[in-house]
Amino acid sequence: MARHLITSAIPYINGIKHLGNLVGSQLPADLYARYCRARGHEVLFLCATDEHGTPAELAAAKAGKPVADYCAEMHDVQAEIARGFRLSFDHFGRSSSPQNHRLTQHFAGRLYEAGLIAEVTEKQVYSHADARFLPDRYIEGTCPNCGYDKARGDQCENCTKQLDPTDLINPRSAISGSTDLEVRETKHLYLRQSLMRDRLNAWIDSKTDWPILTTSIARKWLNDGEGLQDRGITRDLDWGIPVRRGDQDWPGMEGKVFYVWFDAPIEYIACAAEWAEAKGLGEAAWRRWWREDEGAGDVRYTQFMGKDNVPFHTLSFPATLMGSGEPWKLVDYIKSFNYLNYDGGQFSTSQGRGVFMDQALSILPADYWRWWLLSHAPEGSDSEFTWENFQAAVNKDLADVLGNFVSRVTKFCAAKFGADVPAGGSPGQQEEALIARLTTRIREYEAHMEAMEIRKSAAALRAIWVEGNEYLQEAAPWSTIKLDPDRAAMQIRLALNLIRLYAVLSAPFIPDASAAMLAAMRTDDARWPDDLPAALAKLGAGHGFEVPEVLFAKITDAAREDWQARFSGHRA
Ligand code: 2FM
Ligand code: ZN
Repeated sequence: MARHLITSAIPYINGIKHLGNLVGSQLPADLYARYCRARGHEVLFLCATDEHGTPAELAAAKAGKPVADYCAEMHDVQAEIARGFRLSFDHFGRSSSPQNHRLTQHFAGRLYEAGLIAEVTEKQVYSHADARFLPDRYIEGTCPNCGYDKARGDQCENCTKQLDPTDLINPRSAISGSTDLEVRETKHLYLRQSLMRDRLNAWIDSKTDWPILTTSIARKWLNDGEGLQDRGITRDLDWGIPVRRGDQDWPGMEGKVFYVWFDAPIEYIACAAEWAEAKGLGEAAWRRWWREDEGAGDVRYTQFMGKDNVPFHTLSFPATLMGSGEPWKLVDYIKSFNYLNYDGGQFSTSQGRGVFMDQALSILPADYWRWWLLSHAPEGSDSEFTWENFQAAVNKDLADVLGNFVSRVTKFCAAKFGADVPAGGSPGQQEEALIARLTTRIREYEAHMEAMEIRKSAAALRAIWVEGNEYLQEAAPWSTIKLDPDRAAMQIRLALNLIRLYAVLSAPFIPDASAAMLAAMRTDDARWPDDLPAALAKLGAGHGFEVPEVLFAKITDAAREDWQARFSGHRA
């Protein structure tokens, strides 16, 4: 039994995320965590809100709230929505936690002692109109790399290049729009990640099984040197983790905080500490997930994230961990995603374009979204949400293939044999052939899930559902019953057992429907079918069952058109 540490990129605190954000990290991470648990592995699945930096300050100012209050409220909002989507985090933490303060300051101290932090007097953009320095997102302008005119001071959204605010062409204040800016001198700390180029290169080279998307982004930054430029890790902001070396003051750095991208990935560790505290466990409980010298030797650590996050996770964060000189657990596998587009354009938080997580749950249950998003995950390339495609997938895969199977089998049985699994008959050639085909398909499904090939996993699962329908068509118990009632009883007994099997196999994708299927079969036996013939004999003659409510309602054309119009533009 392996131990799996799984983290999803931690979403910024400002605002509710759209479906593109969800499918780019939290949802596939949840799929994998649920699968690992179902296979009997010990799992620690962590996520948190990313609460520091300019996005948080700007959003709090817009909401007219103190930033700490704003973050506390928005954390609860995001946690509630995550529950709505059935994201099964063991802990949903906060990067502003005391644990993260301590750990971030600890790492800074270790890196300083190792000679990996430089104190640099640098020029920074000062806004007269706003009477303050303008770090990161407080400043916008044209990207020097690709010409995108809404690039932010820390990164260009369009080409993913990491930027410093002074790199921007035609800069303007994101607070006031003022271009009355001046460059002034101020002291900051730099992480000397360029000194770690060889170590990072060797480490990336050793990751031969990583997705091309991950390694190509990492190599791009390593090889052209851009990403490994020493990076400023402090900012002139009020809100954030105060700059200290461990528990000591840092002379000259008073009033400054760490840069959000320095403390955010450290929250992955701090989140484990928050989890342990919330559970009333001691320090050792979380350190056995994170310290190689305290039990993490057999942990497999997988991270999930969108492609724009890859440079920080392949370069800056590993540089922090390696540079500390302490045996912290490094990531074993990074699953990264392209972008999900929305109906001919991009999802846009600023323009309210697309479907946001709260809106999605207000119109349909989580499973509908989970199924569509996961079966269309932007793995090989960007993918696109269209309402037509969503309607077709829900109606065909969920309603026609899976839902219909469950309803036909249970209704037929209830009508012809009553409310218990019927006795009689024994499996024949048709059933043996079905079991052989299903065994192959289940092994395929497992292989894709283990490889985190999400679309392929969804296709394999769907093929397993289709097998049930095809069997039912061939076996035709509604005809058999006329000539050979025992045989029909055996066929329907097998089909009822298939419903339980489907509940178990489908739970990582559609947990609520799975729970409803298990409840209808009056069982909580969700053990993975390592031995398929045994798994298909679990519900024996006389075991009671219920005809469940419709598992998946079809999406009508009228509903589709209504939603299409509602979500095309500005979020109310
Ligand atoms: O892109 C984002 O939403 C960032 N908040 C992700 C941070 S992931 C990690 F570093 F914590
Ligand atoms: Zn750019």
